[in-house]
Amino acid sequence: MSAADSGLDRLLDRSIVPGYSALGYRLRKREWSNDDPRPDALAGRRALVTGAGGGLGEATALGLARLGATVHLLVRSEARAAAAVDRIRTTLAEDGRTAELIVEECDVSDLAAVRGFTDSFGGRLRAMDSGLDVLIHNAGVLPATRTESVDGHELTVATHVLGPILMTERLLPALSASTVGARVVLVASGGMYTQGLPTRDPEYTKGEYSGSVAYARSKRMQVELTPLLAERWSDDAVSVYAMHPGWADTPGVADSLPLFRTLTRPILRSAEAGADTAVWLAATEPAPPSGTFWHDRNVRPTSYRSATRPKPGKVDTLWQWVQDAINVE
Ligand SMILES: NC(=O)c1ccc[n+]([C@@H]2O[C@H](COP(=O)([O-])OP(=O)(O)OC[C@H]3O[C@@H](n4cnc5c(N)ncnc54)[C@H](OP(=O)(O)O)[C@@H]3O)[C@@H](O)[C@H]2O)c1
Repeated sequence: MSAADSGLDRLLDRSIVPGYSALGYRLRKREWSNDDPRPDALAGRRALVTGAGGGLGEATALGLARLGATVHLLVRSEARAAAAVDRIRTTLAEDGRTAELIVEECDVSDLAAVRGFTDSFGGRLRAMDSGLDVLIHNAGVLPATRTESVDGHELTVATHVLGPILMTERLLPALSASTVGARVVLVASGGMYTQGLPTRDPEYTKGEYSGSVAYARSKRMQVELTPLLAERWSDDAVSVYAMHPGWADTPGVADSLPLFRTLTRPILRSAEAGADTAVWLAATEPAPPSGTFWHDRNVRPTSYRSATRPKPGKVDTLWQWVQDAINVE
């Protein structure tokens, strides 16, 4: 029986607390014995992971490197990146492995910085005659108060939606140069189940600001735009997925959700368990259907309540707003 057919898996998904926790991961993992990507599944492939200086991004970079990929770790702070690179190298060395790890700097919420980075990164890849096989949009924020990016966009939308889509659009030549069909992963959150698509006020200018609500709305945007992006990028042979990692113990959770962490710490997953599905989506064969939403190696519903399901036309309305904001046609 595959994990997809398992009643236990579905029960865990609907019961949230056990499903998102370390227990859910442990129980599902028992069903994956034949489902791990083969060792060296990513040998000869190139991956870029955003927000890779710690937490899930670092664990994702480790997971991809362990499968043989050359990994570019995109960070805002070189110091954090150096420490992450050291930890990844040490872990790989314990298994007698090495990997090519390259640090990249960019603030993904800053659209000019994204344009600058993609020009330079894309140029370097062209000079090496290399494509980009895997792009994991992991960088994330949960601000306590309403904050704007340098471009004046609400920060969660800028970081989770505008920056990642602009970066992918501008890296399409590199992604389409992949010889195996590139895969893009948007790291969303189960928190998005609590919110609908905020098409009337995507920048959260109305009502009392809540960082958790802003965060969940921006993650809802990622998930709802994924099928549209799959269609848009299919001509470039680029597949795109959204996934949510469950609840993992990371610096971000400690900083942004200290009470949540205190209450749930005994059941939080490791960062590696949270990153598992992003790594799996990048490496499993054959490539899963593009445009789908995943958790713990299984496709998941995008809504459990009709109130959070977008009405017809709303995703297109949001997409029009995104296109205007990042200036792509
Ligand atoms: N941990 C969980 O339980 C959980 C649950 C659901 C979803 N997620 C999602 O998983 C992803 C990783 O979360 P995490 O828990 O590992 O959080 P984390 O420990 O805070 O890591 C987030 C990373 O994103 C980077 N980042 C933030 N804004 C950035 C920007 N503008 N440009 C470039 N990098 C930026 C941070 O870099 P700095 O060091 O420079 O701040 C940090 O390295 C996020 O998208 C988060 O929403 C996590």
